[in-house]
Amino acid sequence: MRLAKYLAQAGIASRRHAEQMIKNGEIKVNGQLVTEMGTQVEPGKDVIEYQGRIVGSTRPRMIYVLLNKPAGFICSVDDPQGRPTVLDLLKDIKERIYPVGRLDFDTSGLLILSNDGEFTNLMIHPRYKIKKKYEAWVRGRVSQPELSSMSRGLMLEDGMTAPAQVRLIAQDEKNSLLEITIHEGRKRQIKRMCASIGHPVLNLKRTGLAFLSLQGLEEGGYRLLKEQEVQQLKDCAGSISED
Ligand code: URA
Repeated sequence: MRLAKYLAQAGIASRRHAEQMIKNGEIKVNGQLVTEMGTQVEPGKDVIEYQGRIVGSTRPRMIYVLLNKPAGFICSVDDPQGRPTVLDLLKDIKERIYPVGRLDFDTSGLLILSNDGEFTNLMIHPRYKIKKKYEAWVRGRVSQPELSSMSRGLMLEDGMTAPAQVRLIAQDEKNSLLEITIHEGRKRQIKRMCASIGHPVLNLKRTGLAFLSLQGLEEGGYRLLKEQEVQQLKDCAGSISED
């Protein structure tokens, strides 16, 4: 982050005034006077001083939580109907975070929560084409032609779906288990796709997002994403949008 921005966010001065203070040699970074306008600092790491006092940034810590959502929780910060929300599962997280995209009340699986709005936009904007993988138990025995039509694209009431990767994983006399990977994020998309080929969803779980999986997380369990994973997700969005 630019030093002037850091000072402004810490409430020391306006951005322009902060730049003047830097020029005047009033600011130290890690004990050294800096007068360079574009100086970059890392909040939480570099020590910034003004008039002998350490200046703390007011920027909240950005956090990124990976949750294995159980069915029966709503992806919202609160619910007018009083149903449990995914935030009820994150007892020891103090920051105000919110779901990055949605899973239906009865859908389980991989969900990220964060307080980083820019990151959220990267993950959910259709332009960035982040892949989401689902396992869906559907009613009936799905045929090969039905799988193919789903992977080519289906006409739903809000238009054609983009091509998807669809695979039959298991089947019994009555039902089929499909693995479906899409990069769109329309409302109830998987359920509507399956219903449109005559095989309504009985049970839906998101098992992957970009390179992330649920490995090591039981239902209701969560962990913080590592810095490197967050960076990798951002890179994924960046590289895909340039196609
Ligand atoms: N598609 C759906 O139909 N529901 C979800 O929760 C996610 C994707």
